[in-house]
Amino acid sequence: MDDLGETARPTRAVQAVRAEAPSRPTRAGTLRERRAAVLSPSYRLFYSEPVELVAGRGAHLFDAQGRDFLDMYNNVPAIGHSHPGVARAVAAQAATLNTHTRYLTAGLVDYAEALLDTFPAELDRVTFACSGSEAVDLALRMARCATGRRGIIVSAHAYHGTTALAAAVSPSLGPDNPLGPEVVTVDPPDPAEAPGDFAARVAAAADRLEESGAGAACLLADSIFSSDGVRPGPVGALPAAAAQVRARGGLWVADEVQPGFGRTGAMWGFERHTGASRDAAGGAGISGAGASGVAGSGTVTGGAVARDGEPGEAGGADDVPDIAVLGKPMGNGMPISAVIHREALGREFGQRVRYFNTFGGSPVSIAAAQVVLATVLGEDLPGRAARLGERIARGMADTGAFSQVRYAGLFAGAQLDSAERAQAVVDALRARRVLISASGAGGDVLKVRPPLIVDDDDIDRFLTELDAALAEVGR
Ligand SMILES: Cc1ncc(COP(=O)(O)O)c(C=O)c1O
Repeated sequence: MDDLGETARPTRAVQAVRAEAPSRPTRAGTLRERRAAVLSPSYRLFYSEPVELVAGRGAHLFDAQGRDFLDMYNNVPAIGHSHPGVARAVAAQAATLNTHTRYLTAGLVDYAEALLDTFPAELDRVTFACSGSEAVDLALRMARCATGRRGIIVSAHAYHGTTALAAAVSPSLGPDNPLGPEVVTVDPPDPAEAPGDFAARVAAAADRLEESGAGAACLLADSIFSSDGVRPGPVGALPAAAAQVRARGGLWVADEVQPGFGRTGAMWGFERHTGASRDAAGGAGISGAGASGVAGSGTVTGGAVARDGEPGEAGGADDVPDIAVLGKPMGNGMPISAVIHREALGREFGQRVRYFNTFGGSPVSIAAAQVVLATVLGEDLPGRAARLGERIARGMADTGAFSQVRYAGLFAGAQLDSAERAQAVVDALRARRVLISASGAGGDVLKVRPPLIVDDDDIDRFLTELDAALAEVGR
């Protein structure tokens, strides 16, 4: 045993496992204590005083005392918490048939057709999975297979998920989460920059990957750079950066898990940069944005509003991502995600590697997704997001508390000067029963991202409570 040497010595964690006698914790105490006694140490709770929820409806959540919390943060229940149409569709499908994608079922094909109709024609195939992480993972494997390259370029504080590969491209998980050896980070776009500045950083990263021998398989970018502190602009930054990667044999993978399904005022986040939307997206594309810039998107610095500029010529094939990854709001809480790609791009992967996801695209998840898509398009939720997002961003800027409010549709990032202040505002709002959170590399950006069906009364309440919270914390 001894001659196995130093490397064979168990780690401290393993020693602890061997040394500590197992004990079944008592099933007593507060809910918070019982939770801590049974859940893995990885779990975190929001807010210094966590919220215990028992119900949700629309943009509202309710605790056991029946108190109403305004949800200004959840992007998953995009068409509203406990949406009755989703609940009915899920219940009916669960009571009828729930299998997987290896049988012929009409709902799967109907939904795939309807979903692909919201994308530019080049994106003509879909693979279903259960979570954004799984879809990111698959997209990266496809990109590596199609390009024969290994390198992946991501933004400096990106988050792309929980699988080994998705975590390896998620620098926001911190220094103890090692990035993959072929992962290179670039600073995210800044609204004050020209679109070409981000592209130049991406080009330099791709060159580094080329020199290392890995080559650039893809630029993987959240189309609104949410975990980088919400960075929707400048318009044009993404396709310009993609052009640099493509010139070096790589692909553009658009992570639409956060901005997708209308949140940013366009059906898909990449459309804000490219004008590549389809008319079938319920007129939700940015092509009709008008002369003043992209509808419902811009940056407010001090009192001055800079609307995001116009995208370039609409619909050029170069403006369409090679792969788009969808998730979160897709099933309004049911676990469904997707990788959208060009047929040719997935051909080799499909022939060489079998992909089967037991629960991905199950009839019950598809039933939920059908209601979501029909609601987003039928009620023009992207248009609504553009209109209401403008109100939220301007209202937040009017408080005078933020150096900048960056926004696209119903996704706003309000810049404060420290993580402590941001957390204090988040907690003060929570005490006033309004739920938001903070984001960004410095944790100093308030992240506001309500369900898409939030209404004007909700926004009045949010702005009133924000004003009071800021007065309490100090502007
Ligand atoms: C941009 C982005 N990509 C991927 C993911 C992973 O999605 P999921 O949590 O469904 O696995 C997330 C989750 O927050 C995300 O924000």
